[in-house]
Amino acid sequence: MNTLLLDNHLAQTTPFPVGLEVSHATGSYIYTKDGNKYLDMISGLCVSNLGHGNQAVKDAVYCQLEKYAHVMVYGEFEQDAVSELAATLTGLLPKSLDTCYFVNSGTEANEAAIKLARRSTGRSELIAFKGAYHGGSTGSLAISYNEEKKYAVRPLMPDVKFIELNKLADLAFITKKTAGVFLETIQGDAGIRIPEEAFIKALRKRCSETGTLLILDEIQAGMGRTGKFSAFEHYGIVPDILCLGKALGAGLPIGALISGRNLMEKFTHDPMLGHITTFGGNPVISAAANAGLKELLKDGIIAAVETKGQFISSSLKDHTMVKEIRQKGLFIAIELESAELVQQAFDYCLAHGVITFWFLSCKNAFRIAPPLNISQEDLAHGVSILKDALDSLT
Ligand SMILES: Cc1ncc(COP(=O)(O)O)c(C=O)c1O
Repeated sequence: MNTLLLDNHLAQTTPFPVGLEVSHATGSYIYTKDGNKYLDMISGLCVSNLGHGNQAVKDAVYCQLEKYAHVMVYGEFEQDAVSELAATLTGLLPKSLDTCYFVNSGTEANEAAIKLARRSTGRSELIAFKGAYHGGSTGSLAISYNEEKKYAVRPLMPDVKFIELNKLADLAFITKKTAGVFLETIQGDAGIRIPEEAFIKALRKRCSETGTLLILDEIQAGMGRTGKFSAFEHYGIVPDILCLGKALGAGLPIGALISGRNLMEKFTHDPMLGHITTFGGNPVISAAANAGLKELLKDGIIAAVETKGQFISSSLKDHTMVKEIRQKGLFIAIELESAELVQQAFDYCLAHGVITFWFLSCKNAFRIAPPLNISQEDLAHGVSILKDALDSLT
């Protein structure tokens, strides 16, 4: 462990930070000050979907900075980069999702969606799923499941129920008292849990029947990560609100909630200024996001994601140390027998120049989520180190 981090003036989230001293990052590699390089097999937790140092993104940032950085809080002035981002994003989504509200993070997108669901339905109950992670603020934490992260700060937002993924009987808990149901289209932090199509379709139907908003959190699973631009495309349904974050800013912080205009207009009236933010939709970050989206959509990057994911899963699934691999595109959990083995695999990979990471809510699995444009050569190298790591456990 690097003790330097603990000696400086930065707050720490754990007593055991990985502590790599980063010098720079380019493509799928992160370089450290001691001259080592590490293959990034987690994309900074599903953020760097284009890898690091993308030239078009850098150019767009410089160009916008030359014009202006911040001129006004969200929503008051017309700013080209922000309008372009809304037009591009909604152009990639079903027609009913035609209005974007930009915020600063995934957490804030969910937080705003909670408010929108409550004020538009006049109901207070929210339903979320066992295993869910929706963010660290008191609202988004209340709809997250992991008690380990909640008990020390209770009471959180009341009137939240949790139901089980893929359990059709649990849909009966959604009633005319329920304002909204929050679901990660594919659960990330729970260890890549992939809902069944019949369940998602029944969930959509139940929400429509009860006048409950279906809010899909694609903060991790969106932006091409699962092999489609939106993960809900795998299921043939459309949410009432879509929440995005992480990879949306091509490495810079931004979040978005996207819905139909009628719904989003609830923030405009009675009372107006229903949700406000100073930096949401910052033009420099919007410019990065616009460039990032253009890059992501070219060269068949998303179309190749599932093949790359299957290369990883098929190369490792028969290893004797692997209990299960859950994979959709490049969103992958490798489950072992215990948290101790996961730690050993992580340590081995890091010592051999490959970065993997844990899940908070699935301790006996580790995550693999490389940049979506990782080269076949880098992917093969990563997989070979992963195999060696698993061998080292036997
Ligand atoms: C599914 C999901 N929702 C929301 C969040 C919160 O996003 P942020 O940490 O950017 O606020 C995360 C973060 O990991 C996430 O994975």
